[in-house]
Amino acid sequence: MANNRRIIAILIITILMVVLFIIFLEPISYKPEYNLEVTYLNLSTKLPDTKKLFDVNFKYIINNNVCNNSSHLQAVILVTSYFGNVETRSAMRRAFPSEKLKEFNLRRVFLLGIAPDDKYITQKAVLHENKRFSDLIQGNFKEAYRNLTYKHVMGLKWAAEYCKDSQYIIKMDDDIVINMYKIIDLMNKTKLPSRNLLAGYILSGMTPIREPANKWYVTNEEYEGSFYPTFISGWFYITNPKTCKKIVEMSSRVPYFWVDDIYVTGIIAQKLRIKHYSLKAYFTVHPEFLQCCMRDVEKSQYDCELLVGPNGGDNNLFFSFNEIVAVCYHEQCYKRKRPLNETCVAERKFTLGKGNALVETYRLA
Ligand SMILES: *[C@@H]1O[C@H](CO)[C@@H](O)[C@H](O)[C@H]1NC(C)=O
Ligand SMILES: *[C@@H]1O[C@H](CO)[C@@H](O)[C@H](O)[C@H]1NC(C)=O
Ligand SMILES: *[C@@H]1O[C@H](CO)[C@@H](O)[C@H](O)[C@H]1NC(C)=O
Ligand SMILES: *[C@@H]1O[C@H](CO)[C@@H](O)[C@H](O)[C@H]1NC(C)=O
Ligand SMILES: *[C@@H]1O[C@H](CO)[C@@H](O)[C@H](O)[C@H]1NC(C)=O
Ligand SMILES: *[C@@H]1O[C@H](CO)[C@@H](O)[C@H](O)[C@H]1NC(C)=O
Repeated sequence: MANNRRIIAILIITILMVVLFIIFLEPISYKPEYNLEVTYLNLSTKLPDTKKLFDVNFKYIINNNVCNNSSHLQAVILVTSYFGNVETRSAMRRAFPSEKLKEFNLRRVFLLGIAPDDKYITQKAVLHENKRFSDLIQGNFKEAYRNLTYKHVMGLKWAAEYCKDSQYIIKMDDDIVINMYKIIDLMNKTKLPSRNLLAGYILSGMTPIREPANKWYVTNEEYEGSFYPTFISGWFYITNPKTCKKIVEMSSRVPYFWVDDIYVTGIIAQKLRIKHYSLKAYFTVHPEFLQCCMRDVEKSQYDCELLVGPNGGDNNLFFSFNEIVAVCYHEQCYKRKRPLNETCVAERKFTLGKGNALVETYRLA
């Protein structure tokens, strides 16, 4: 009897100690979960009605069959890259060489146009780069803001044709930094739709910029409406080969509009009645937040909850960011106690890159 009581007392004390231990154990271990919100289309936005039709018959000056009919690819990453941005391509390759991508069942290509040889890079150098890495796709159109839609649609067309068995297609810009490990984790853990899929940062109620001095100036002739349809930022989004194919087919029947993400994920998606899935929670528009994330991983092993952000003109950020956050892939990291926006004192040390220009334009906050 007395023995039983002693055992019960010991048990209760043990349980209490365990509970206290768990309560005071800091920081709390953490497994990220991913949530998706769906936004339905706003069909009240009037679409433009101009004349010039899109010609989707691209010729590839450089092509690489990186998918090679592989049937178990998780994703193919399409990076729209300016001809001369050798540094950003290099940072991505150093962070994740194609051999390492293969271990994750991923592939990657960079989408280029043609440019007159300039003091930074020549077509000969681009051919040489391709010989070394076999990961460039170059179309027969000139590099220009007003040709961005050609590059974007070329990428989707190429993916639908050469990587049709890949589960996902990721489209991103070369000045955007993504947390590769977490994107892979997100794709593994989230059930994204297998038919129509556009998931990313949703922008709605945007209006065309009518200031001729702005590089994103849009004339009435190019787009006559006063609102853009809801669209997904071209910084980064996830789609799949079936959706790419539908978009490309529809593009041959929809007048050309040069702001590529609005054209592809807004105007065409609306015509196809494709829903947008929001990944907004994982985006930041501040490159400084990525820096703070890196510091917190190093200092406190806090998990970096951000998956996508602009490089702010730091062409090597893709590499350094992924090098540091890799710790949380290989080891246990912890959930931060106070949100980043309260602890990260922005140090404005970046020159304004294309990313920031886009932020201004889209007011992507
Ligand atoms: C739909 O878009 C129109 C402008 O095109 C806007 O006035 C309206 O508020 C939007 N509706 C929703 C629900 O976002
Ligand atoms: C493409 O796949 C075939 C077999 O399906 C293989 O023999 C060939 O080596 C692969 N090529 C590349 C570049 O991986
Ligand atoms: C891929 O498969 C198609 C048929 O499904 C075939 O025509 C083509 O030659 C294959 N390509 C490669 C590189 O194996
Ligand atoms: C995600 O799934 C793929 C296969 O679908 C697997 O190769 C990879 O190791 C997984 N990655 C993680 C981080 O779980
Ligand atoms: C877009 O590319 C085409 C084909 O190379 C070229 O004719 C056109 O001038 C380019 N547009 C701009 C705005 O440079
Ligand atoms: C930080 O972000 C959260 C939402 O993620 C918001 O509720 C909070 O007001 C923000 N704090 C500051 C200081 O901006």
